[in-house]
Amino acid sequence: MQGTDMPRLGFGTYDRKGDEGIDAIGCALETGYRHLDTAQDYGTEAEVGAAIRRSGLPRDEVFVTTKVTPANFGPGALVPSLERSCETLGLDHVDLALIHWPAPNGERPLSDYIPQLAEARARGLARHIGVSNFTTALLDEALDILGGVPILTNQVELNPLFRNRTLADHCTARGVIVTCYQPIAHGRIGEDPVMRQIAETHGATPEQIALAFELSRGYAAIPTSGKAERIRSNFRALDIQLSEGEIDRIEGLDRGQRSIDPDWGPDWD
Ligand SMILES: NC(=O)c1ccc[n+]([C@@H]2O[C@H](COP(=O)([O-])OP(=O)(O)OC[C@H]3O[C@@H](n4cnc5c(N)ncnc54)[C@H](OP(=O)(O)O)[C@@H]3O)[C@@H](O)[C@H]2O)c1
Repeated sequence: MQGTDMPRLGFGTYDRKGDEGIDAIGCALETGYRHLDTAQDYGTEAEVGAAIRRSGLPRDEVFVTTKVTPANFGPGALVPSLERSCETLGLDHVDLALIHWPAPNGERPLSDYIPQLAEARARGLARHIGVSNFTTALLDEALDILGGVPILTNQVELNPLFRNRTLADHCTARGVIVTCYQPIAHGRIGEDPVMRQIAETHGATPEQIALAFELSRGYAAIPTSGKAERIRSNFRALDIQLSEGEIDRIEGLDRGQRSIDPDWGPDWD
């Protein structure tokens, strides 16, 4: 599982809407990002498709993820919703389809919608499937339901200030790649003096250090920005090698403060 074709550094597209959004996603592709993260809920699937077409890149060089919103979990609803996503993207399949959130307040059992996700994969609408915002218990239950069908990733909030270690370690132990959302703490990573200091040592930004840390742990990360300079600079995290000592210091920064925590969300670990 860990050796798949999903590029570990991707570009998030929340808020990358309209012409500015297409320009930002296009800038990411020009910079070298080959993994774009969208969702039915973001309203950026059309922008992702437009930017890919404009880039002239062959379809199979860009790894495209979308996420199914809980409103589409009802019987027979998930597969048609992914067909609509593909139509909006202008693609005949996505590389990865995720369950965006477990059903709000657990109002629907996983057995209602996880098999529909597997069906989407079997029909070729998605090359891989996965989940997002799943706890250890929900991940185990989903893996049980799927039998041998692999879950590629669990996309969760994780950055040096919110380490989410119990969940991340469990994903890794179960062969599920951790994808970090809010990987630069939504722009707040530079508030931390240790991150600033390590960045200075490398002639880098705290954001690059956060991303390099996550990649060093074997995770994927999907930062976003609407600014070309930041899109480019975040990508250069791939060039940074942290020492074991630096990694240990970053491991000590966890504040345990989750930032995305809706009241209808799951019982977190
Ligand atoms: N699965 C889920 O439930 C879920 C939840 C949240 C997010 N996501 C995904 O994860 C992606 C990233 O998460 P996110 O957007 O919440 O957080 P993020 O990538 O950690 O942070 C983005 C914010 O940081 C700023 N920023 C970017 N680069 C910077 C830099 N080098 N220096 C200083 N500030 C910088 C951006 O502002 P500027 O635009 O002004 O640069 C933006 O406000 C989303 O786009 C989405 O694809 C998924």
